[in-house]
Amino acid sequence: MADATVDTVASVPVAIVGGGPAGLMLAHRLGRAGIGTIVIDTRSRREIETTQRAGILEADAARDLVETGVCDRVLREGHEHEGVEIRFAGRPHRIDFKELVGRSVWLYPQTDVFTDLADARDRDGGTVHFGVKDTEVLDITTGAPRVRYTAPDGSRHEIRARYVVGADGSRSMCRHLVPEDRRVRYGKEYPFAWFGIMAEAPTSAPELVYAHSEHGFALISQRTETVQRMYFQCDPDESVDAWQDDRIWETLQARVAGEDGFRLQEGPILEKTVLRFRSFVQEPMRWGSMVLAGDAAHTVPPTGARGLNLALHDVKVLADVLVRALGGAGEGALDEYQPRALQRVWRAQNFSSWMTQLLHTAPGGTPFDLRRQLGELDNVVGTRAGRAYLAEQYTGWPAGSRA
Ligand code: DHB
Repeated sequence: MADATVDTVASVPVAIVGGGPAGLMLAHRLGRAGIGTIVIDTRSRREIETTQRAGILEADAARDLVETGVCDRVLREGHEHEGVEIRFAGRPHRIDFKELVGRSVWLYPQTDVFTDLADARDRDGGTVHFGVKDTEVLDITTGAPRVRYTAPDGSRHEIRARYVVGADGSRSMCRHLVPEDRRVRYGKEYPFAWFGIMAEAPTSAPELVYAHSEHGFALISQRTETVQRMYFQCDPDESVDAWQDDRIWETLQARVAGEDGFRLQEGPILEKTVLRFRSFVQEPMRWGSMVLAGDAAHTVPPTGARGLNLALHDVKVLADVLVRALGGAGEGALDEYQPRALQRVWRAQNFSSWMTQLLHTAPGGTPFDLRRQLGELDNVVGTRAGRAYLAEQYTGWPAGSRA
């Protein structure tokens, strides 16, 4: 295959495998610096646009979309959230981000971030090929790596590049190209998953609600005034077909119920999915001329809303070092990428796994475990230091922060 003839050969400085937010934002940032890219993805644009993903953008990431010229739709259609509600033992507790750390987050779904980036690529004349197959990444230990793929019409193509970026998500094929004896994989599995729904219903609360209950975790999020996104903790092997609407609402209502009489607004359920998750990091994030970014290099459980933000931070750093490497500084500039990206990755790994364990009930947990967890929740919401810690982590860390 590697040497079979192809129908076209294209040359660009950077070939990007993966056209999700990480790959497209990298292409956008490089494009602004005059560096050409070709992005390929196995999925169709429609498939990416209709797969529900994360919902929360750090204020810095929202600002970057506007300031780098992607577009300003996030400011018009997104919702700025200055806090979040943590519920446990039937009581609500507001964490006021603005007051505690002077920052906020934006409720702006990943599908919208993707659409904005894909539209910006079209507008700016960027090349993105969706729906490709048989992707091969070749010669990454040389200074002339290649990417080969089959287009939807069956024709074969080759991209010759100076660098290849693997931004191909949590099921990355690129990450496997780092030789097995030279890579380290760190990870953790969780004994639960999330059951996610989209429901046609009015908004139940002005901000997100993260709820702990002895029956398990629930998260109440939003999409529009008439469509809501919610999740509840379930078994990783749960089947969506076992859940009719009534049972889903009963489960969600039980998990958010409390002495304040809080109730969710119900409506027809439009979509149901079981979302498995894990904590994962692969090092190194670069092998020769190939660099990994976003979920391809690391994934986090969704509880801390970090995954998309982390991917966007990776490509911010990566664009900076690639511009310098290609601008004459040479390959040495790339050495900065991993340490700069990884500091935030491990902070986010810690926060995401901490939030997950704080709010979920582990199967087989003892009465001691439950009471200890309630004690921890009380420490978090009942002390300024606890609230500030959560606010600081959830809103992201200012770029370059080390303190
Ligand atoms: C959403 C998803 C998350 O994982 C999270 O922590 C907050 C919000 C969402 O889909 O809206």
